[in-house]
Amino acid sequence: LSVPDIIARKRQGLEHSPEELEALVLGHVRGEVPDYQVAAWLMAVCFQGLSDAELAALTRIMAHSGTVLDLSGVGRPVADKHSTGGVGDKTSLVALPLAAACAVPVGKMSGRGLSFTGGTVDKLESIPGMHLELSAEQFLRQLREVGIVISGQSADLAPADGKLYALRDVTATVSSIPLIAASVMSKKLAGGAHCIVLDVKAGRGAFMASVADARRLAEAMIAIGTRAGRRVAALVTDMSQPLGLAVGNALEVREAIDTLSGRGPADLAELACTLAAEMVCLATGLSHADAHDNVQRALASGAAREALGCLIQAQGGDQRVLDEPSLLPGAPLVQPLLAWRHGYVAAVDALAVADVARALGAGRARKGDPIDPAVGVVLAVKVGQHVERGQPLATLHASDGVRLPAACKQLAAAFQLADDPAPAPPLIHARLGAAETTD
Ligand code: URA
Repeated sequence: LSVPDIIARKRQGLEHSPEELEALVLGHVRGEVPDYQVAAWLMAVCFQGLSDAELAALTRIMAHSGTVLDLSGVGRPVADKHSTGGVGDKTSLVALPLAAACAVPVGKMSGRGLSFTGGTVDKLESIPGMHLELSAEQFLRQLREVGIVISGQSADLAPADGKLYALRDVTATVSSIPLIAASVMSKKLAGGAHCIVLDVKAGRGAFMASVADARRLAEAMIAIGTRAGRRVAALVTDMSQPLGLAVGNALEVREAIDTLSGRGPADLAELACTLAAEMVCLATGLSHADAHDNVQRALASGAAREALGCLIQAQGGDQRVLDEPSLLPGAPLVQPLLAWRHGYVAAVDALAVADVARALGAGRARKGDPIDPAVGVVLAVKVGQHVERGQPLATLHASDGVRLPAACKQLAAAFQLADDPAPAPPLIHARLGAAETTD
């Protein structure tokens, strides 16, 4: 079939054979199929969707478009955790050390911040000396010897996704559930982990605005992973308000350290412990209750905090940041936003907070833009809390006084204060997934 014939088949809602998908996707990677034809196909997928078989084949082809890591040398099941992206989402920095402290090897290849969402690599890079660009050999060695590794994604990991994502970004085709599922899972399959725990965010600060769509995305990703022989579980979690209190790179590292020291925000601690317990369950076969107990012990004993220290040290970072957070970059200007009336916090719009943090320099408008690790927003209140007039709602951390007044005004618009108490949204909407593999 010619490429226009393949595009026409999807436009008509017909099912592709794996060979058709391979011709299109690998032809695109090789530069033989031009962007404009792939863009037309992506839009057809947005309208017609993909069957389970198509989605599994597309993801396998994307995963195998570059290097696929073989982690069998670690000798034990390796766990990975992935979030679909949120605001203030620093759970990897807490959940991975928790799982590692429960003797589960954890290896994660992570992205940089995308659009309004933050990225684990950007956050970790705010630790002085920390290296995130590891070769496959370094990644494997650290996984074997230290039991915990987080690296930036190598350019050779699922290169088909890199090319497709760049096109989706400029053709309004990012938000398709099958395309997101294939994009995420191609990288997870290429990363080689045997056990994958997915945190699928739902709400204003996530790619999926509704819980129903987030659930559909989680189901699609679980089906792909299970068909590929991986153990996969997913949580659908709230992203209507930021997770925890801090939004901004060094600010979030500081909050992750606080959480591993037992003094972090309750929602972050709960979500990180739940995700870590899922990793422990999948990797060891322990019951949920036993996995949860192990994770709680790893938190209370300080073993998980130590695991974060081992990760930082192994990757050249200054692990004194665990005891001396002032070694992290700090912003010269800190300004509180005060409540303009008394009442209950009815909403803290995650997307609006992310936009303020990005305007202060914490995020990127375009891929490759520099970021300022020190800046961001730290909330003082969450949905459901009561505030008095004049009480701080948040603090802005800025490097540049010129940006502050507009940012302060913009941040005020993220808060809704009401006369009546507003219920806090549930943190975890659903747990999905089988602990069984197909082979
Ligand atoms: N994250 C990804 O890796 N891919 C998407 O398509 C969306 C979020």
